[in-house]
Amino acid sequence: MQAPDFIQAKASQRKISVVTCYDYTFARLLAGSSVDALLVGDSAAMVMHGHPSTLQADVPMMASHTQAVVRGASDKFVVADMPFLSYRKGLAVAMEAADQLMRSGAKALKLEGVAGHEDVIAHLVQSGIPVMGHLGLQPQSVHAIGGYCVQGRSEESARMIAAQAKQLEGLGAFAIVLECVPAKLARAVTAALKIPTIGIGAGADCDGQVLVLQDLLDMNPEFRPKFARPFGQLSGRIAEAVESFASSVRAGSFPQPAESYE
Ligand code: KIV
Repeated sequence: MQAPDFIQAKASQRKISVVTCYDYTFARLLAGSSVDALLVGDSAAMVMHGHPSTLQADVPMMASHTQAVVRGASDKFVVADMPFLSYRKGLAVAMEAADQLMRSGAKALKLEGVAGHEDVIAHLVQSGIPVMGHLGLQPQSVHAIGGYCVQGRSEESARMIAAQAKQLEGLGAFAIVLECVPAKLARAVTAALKIPTIGIGAGADCDGQVLVLQDLLDMNPEFRPKFARPFGQLSGRIAEAVESFASSVRAGSFPQPAESYE
């Protein structure tokens, strides 16, 4: 899939699947899947580095994860997140960040929000860089909104999200992530746009869905928001495998002669 295929998929009512990916090993596994795109999300700061929020992601971190993912899944459409403030310090700084992420192998960039960086979005699009928007819950604004809570519940906030979605479409975005908004609002926004919406916690009527890979694999049972259906129980399987290794070492049953060199 490439950027224009997203709009084509919406036109032909084919749902789009996206998962996050941050490393080479998982990228290789996902390269053989039918998932449409990989998102090197700034959630890497939390999922891969254990930071409390995405604010700790920076351009070198995102570039390094992007390179690893592209090495493992070079045929996939890889979208990289522009990290916190990298597109809020003026056009030149934003373009330098975009330069590094695109040279790392990303095929598109994702930015949160629109107000105050319309010029960056327009310039990226005019520079031939596909831009994915991100509205609703914007984790880079967690301190301003007071936590990871559903957005667009009030009429005013719903109206603002709908207007920003239209604005992003006008600026040339090829898709918009809608995070944690009521399903009714996501449905209305989706119906009003020609570009697809990719939902996370935004109900079934978006044109596609995105999940954090570690959530869909249930790798962190202590973090289970209601929208993150665990499609596989990996945490238990990993714990079992590692316990089996440790007890085999203690019992002296690993390694066997066949697992050793003469
Ligand atoms: O960084 C991320 O993982 C994201 C998804 C939640 C869409 O932006």
